[in-house]
Amino acid sequence: MMSSNQQGEIAKGLEGVVAAETKIGFVDGINGRLVYRGYNIEDLVEKSNFEEVAYLLIYGKLPTLTDFKQFKDNLNLKAGISEDLFSIISKTTQKSHPMSALRTAVSYQGAFDPLSSNSDLKSQEKMGLSIMGSFPSIVAAINRSIKGEGRVVSKSTDYVEKFLEESFGRKPSDFEKEVMRVALIIHADHGMNASTFASMVTISTLSDMYSAVTSAVSSLKGPLHGGANEKSLEMLEKIGSPKNAEKVISEMLEKKEKIMGFGHRVYKVYDPRAKILKVYAKQLAEKTGHKDLFDTAEEVEKVMVSKLGSKGIFPNVDFYSGIVYKSLGFDSKIFTPIFALARISGWFARSFEYLHDNRLFRPRSLYKGEVGPLKYLPINERKQ
Ligand code: SDX
Repeated sequence: MMSSNQQGEIAKGLEGVVAAETKIGFVDGINGRLVYRGYNIEDLVEKSNFEEVAYLLIYGKLPTLTDFKQFKDNLNLKAGISEDLFSIISKTTQKSHPMSALRTAVSYQGAFDPLSSNSDLKSQEKMGLSIMGSFPSIVAAINRSIKGEGRVVSKSTDYVEKFLEESFGRKPSDFEKEVMRVALIIHADHGMNASTFASMVTISTLSDMYSAVTSAVSSLKGPLHGGANEKSLEMLEKIGSPKNAEKVISEMLEKKEKIMGFGHRVYKVYDPRAKILKVYAKQLAEKTGHKDLFDTAEEVEKVMVSKLGSKGIFPNVDFYSGIVYKSLGFDSKIFTPIFALARISGWFARSFEYLHDNRLFRPRSLYKGEVGPLKYLPINERKQ
């Protein structure tokens, strides 16, 4: 056994630590490539749909027609969510951040699913499918609640269409569906990021999938992770115009503030997802009268790359997604739940994969405190 002052090296933030093996996805941080089960995301964005990509991540291959039909039946998108859950979401959203509403919704569902007492693979799979199948309705319910709007129930069994229809209370256009399909595919999975890791830590205790997803949602909320998309758009709106970008960004950097939507633990080059989103952000911004916002973002990018590009800091997935979602008509508060609408597939796939060869996650910390033994003093003998 190691002595208390020889406990090993710290990898702060677990940077560079390889903690699990996977066949699901590869984040190539040097060449700026993202691969799901061998397929480039660019190819999937061009040819596939979200449910198919989720199937690929979870089950390891592209589905046949029969597989796909079975998967869709299992997701049971038609079912949506209960009135009770809509009402809980509505109440939670009035009091707290939409990500807290999402966390509460997942946890609430788990409390009423008898499967959540089980940890066998079949039960975990069923729970994962049922959580994923409820996500379009949950996130749409959060979106409506933010605006104080009532419930809309869509009978669509298409993940993207159902979400948009229940969010907006109308049939989405083909272009809206196309943009959302692309956004969900590129956000579906991304290595052992913080929220995915959180879900894996929870499942590794042989807890249930609802608990794993609740952990993941909690972790995605933070501005260093999924919460950056909301903050990034708020920053762009504050900057207001391309001509202010240089001054505002320089001042923020001087104050050692982090510029939301830039930098990445793995990518030291341009995030391939940001490249895809930038194209849509430009088109959408021009179409919907937000051109100034896009121009501001492009100027911020120029300033940041000139100042920090040499340190490997470039736009990440959260930088242009905000403009895309805003141009589709979403409030910035719903951006991170939309991230979760996609990432549920990665959380499910990775937790499920890990369970097949499970080992409890349990790292150590380097103890820097008093080693003692100190003499215990009763409370009335301690100095005031
Ligand atoms: C996501 O992990 C994933 O895959 C996540 C994700 C996914 O799909 O799941 O890709 C989604 O979370 C994207 C990241 C969203 N977060 C942000 O946009 C927040 C802003 N970015 C950062 O704070 C930062 O870049 C992180 C948190 C994303 C990663 O940072 P690291 O690896 O912990 O690096 P660091 O904070 O230690 O920074 C290293 C250096 C520092 O400078 P020095 O002290 O060496 O001089 O780079 C600087 C930092 O100050 N730096 C930034 C910066 N990011 C890094 N400076 C200004 N603005 C930034 N955004």
